[in-house]
Amino acid sequence: MTRRPSRADLCRMASALALAAALGSTAACGVTAQTGSVGGVSDMPPLPASATAPVVYPHDVHSYAAPQVARVKHVDLNLDADFAAKTLSGVATLDVTGEVGATTLILDVRDMDIRGVRNASGPLAFVLGASDPIMGQSLTITTPAFVAGQTQKIMVDYATRPEAAALQWLTPAQTSGGKQPFLFSQGQAILTRTWAPTQDSPGIRQTYSATITVPNTLKALMSAESLTPEGLPAGEGRHSYSFRMTNPVPPYLIALAVGDLAFEAEDGRTGVWTEPDRLDAAHTEFSEVGKMVDAAEGLYGPYAWGRYDLLILPPSFPFGGMENPRLTFATPTVVAGDKSLVSLVAHELAHSWSGNLVTNAVWADFWLNEGFTTYFQNRIMEAVYGNDRAQLERVLGWDSLQAQLRDLPADDTKLHLNLDGRDPDDGMTDIAYEKGANFLETIERIVGREKFDVWLKGYFERNAFRPMTSELFLEDIRAHLVTTAALESELQMDQWIYQPGLPSNAVAPTSDAFIPVDAAAQAFFVAHGPASAIPWSGWNTQQRQRFLQWRPANPTTDWLTPAQLAELSQTLNLATEGNAEIAFAWLQIAVAHRYEPAVPQLQTFLTSIGRRKFVMPLFTSLWAEGDWGRPIATRIYALARPGYHPVTVSSVDALVGRPAA
Ligand code: BES
Ligand code: ZN
Repeated sequence: MTRRPSRADLCRMASALALAAALGSTAACGVTAQTGSVGGVSDMPPLPASATAPVVYPHDVHSYAAPQVARVKHVDLNLDADFAAKTLSGVATLDVTGEVGATTLILDVRDMDIRGVRNASGPLAFVLGASDPIMGQSLTITTPAFVAGQTQKIMVDYATRPEAAALQWLTPAQTSGGKQPFLFSQGQAILTRTWAPTQDSPGIRQTYSATITVPNTLKALMSAESLTPEGLPAGEGRHSYSFRMTNPVPPYLIALAVGDLAFEAEDGRTGVWTEPDRLDAAHTEFSEVGKMVDAAEGLYGPYAWGRYDLLILPPSFPFGGMENPRLTFATPTVVAGDKSLVSLVAHELAHSWSGNLVTNAVWADFWLNEGFTTYFQNRIMEAVYGNDRAQLERVLGWDSLQAQLRDLPADDTKLHLNLDGRDPDDGMTDIAYEKGANFLETIERIVGREKFDVWLKGYFERNAFRPMTSELFLEDIRAHLVTTAALESELQMDQWIYQPGLPSNAVAPTSDAFIPVDAAAQAFFVAHGPASAIPWSGWNTQQRQRFLQWRPANPTTDWLTPAQLAELSQTLNLATEGNAEIAFAWLQIAVAHRYEPAVPQLQTFLTSIGRRKFVMPLFTSLWAEGDWGRPIATRIYALARPGYHPVTVSSVDALVGRPAA
C-alpha cells in the first residue's frame, strides 16, 4: 500500500526542489500551520484574475445574507467532534469585509446552538431570526462600523445539534469495519448552515481553514489540503487535524468526514480513501481515475485543485457522489467490482470545472452546475472508454429525461427554475442534468465540436471562481460563440432555458447496442417469451439497465404473472444481484407487480443502502401500491430509518410519515 505523503515528506520534497524558498514558505515546514494562514507548500495552482474581479450578487431566495453590505471572505472552524453527544462544538472565526459605515453582518444558521458572538475587544450583540423549515434562521450580528479596506475578525461560539441535517453520526454497527463510529457531512444545497455559521449562498465564495479534534482512533478528512496528515496530539486520547482551502469556494463545498480511514494512491495526484476493509476493492475499481483527470484537463484546461482523491463512504451516504473539492465523496454502491459504474467519478470530477470553478449563483440555475457536468462527464467517458460506452450512457440519460418530462409540471421542465419558497432539492431532477446536457450537445452539434470546445474551455477560464447565472451564460456565449443572427435563431437558446419541454432542435441520442436489448425486452415483456431467450450474460451493465427499465406500452395486458417474475429472477440471478443499479431496477419491476417473493430482497436492499436515488423511488412505488405496498413500506421504513442520513430521512418522512417511536 502506498502511503499518502506526509507534510514532512512534502516539505522535504519542496526543499529538494528549492520550492519552499521560491514560495517564501520557510515558516510552514516543520511548524503547524495556524488558522487562516496561507503560506506553505501548496499543490494548488495560483488563482487566476477572474477570481478577484468584482462580483454582482443576484438575490438568493435561499439565504438571509446581504453580501453587498457585509460579506464573509474566510471561515476558520475550530471544532471538537463528540461522538457520544453527536455534536461538533467550538469556534467559527470569520474574516468579514463590509461597506464603509456598515454595522450589520447577516449569516445563515439552522438548528444550531449559538453560545455567543465576539471580536477581539469583547462580546458583540446578535439576534436570531424566526425559524423557517427550509432556510433556517438569520443570525444578525452588530459589528463595529466598517472602514475602507478593513477586514474584521468575528468569532461565533457554537455547537451543532444531533439533528443537524448536514451531519450523519454513524454508530460502529453502521460502518463496514463495525468497530469505530463515523461522521460525515453533506452541504449541498443549503445544509452547511446546520454545522458552520456562515453566509450559505453559492454566490458568496469563501476560503476556509479548520482544526478538527477527534478521538485518537479516528482520522479526519476535509475538502481541503490536509496540513497534519498524521494528526497532532490534543490530550485525553484525542488528536487534531488541520486543513486549508486557499481557493475560494461556495460554502456548500465545505465538507468533513471522520472515521477509521485508510488511503491508497492511484497515481501521483489521485487516490482512494475508505474504511480499511473496503480499500482493496475501491482501489481496484477506480484504477483509471488518474486517466480521467488527464482526459478532463485535455478537454477543458488545467485541474485547479491540486490533488483529486475519492472518499468511499458507508452505504448510508445519501447521494451517488458529491463533488467536494479535492475529495469527491461517493457511495460504496459504485464499487460494483467490474468498473461498470465509474461514470459517477467522471461526473464528480467534471464538477471540478462546472460547479466548483464556475458556480451557479443561485439554485434556480442548478442546471449550470449539473447540465454542464453531465455533458462534460460524457466527454470524459468518451475520451477514456470510447464513444460506444459514452453513447450508451447518453441514451440512458435521455430515457430518464423522457420519463421526467412526462411526470413533472411544465414549469419545472424549464432549465431556469422558479424555486421561490421551495426547497432547492425540488430542482434536483433530470431536467437540470439531462435537458441541460442535451442543450449543450445541441449547441455542439450545430456549431461543430471544435468550435464548441474552444468556447467551453474559454467559458471555464473567463468565469473561474465566479458565480454564474443563466443570463451571464447567455452573455458569454453570445460574446464568444453565437455571434450571428442565423446561428442565434437556429440554436433557440432562450427557448431551451426559459420554456418548458424540449425545443424542436433537440435530438435523441441512439446506440446500436440497445437494438438487441429492445428486441429481447419486447419478446419477454410483451410477447411473453421465455426468460431463457434473454442473452443476459452477453450484456454489459448499461444494456442490462436498459432491459430492466423497459416498460410495456400497456401495463394492464402486459402484466407479468408471479411465475414469469420467478422465471425472470431465477434465470438472471436477480435475487443475488450485486450491482446496485441492476438490483434497484429489478426491485422496481417486482414492486410494480406486487411480487411477494421479492419482499425480503427489497427489505435487505432498503435497510442496507441509504442512497436517496434508490430509496425514494422504491418507497414511492410501494406507496402507489396502496393496500399491498403501504404496510410493507411502513414496516420496512421503521427498520431502515435509523440508518439513513437526515437528507434521505426527510424525503421519505414526507412520503411514508414518521414511524411511531
Ligand atoms: N452535486 C450532486 C449531488 C447533489 C445535488 C447533492 C443537489 C445535493 C443537492 C452530484 O454531483 C450528483 O449529481 N450526484 C449524482 C451522481 C451523478 C452520476 C448523476 C447522484 O448522487 O446520483
Ligand atoms: Zn452533479
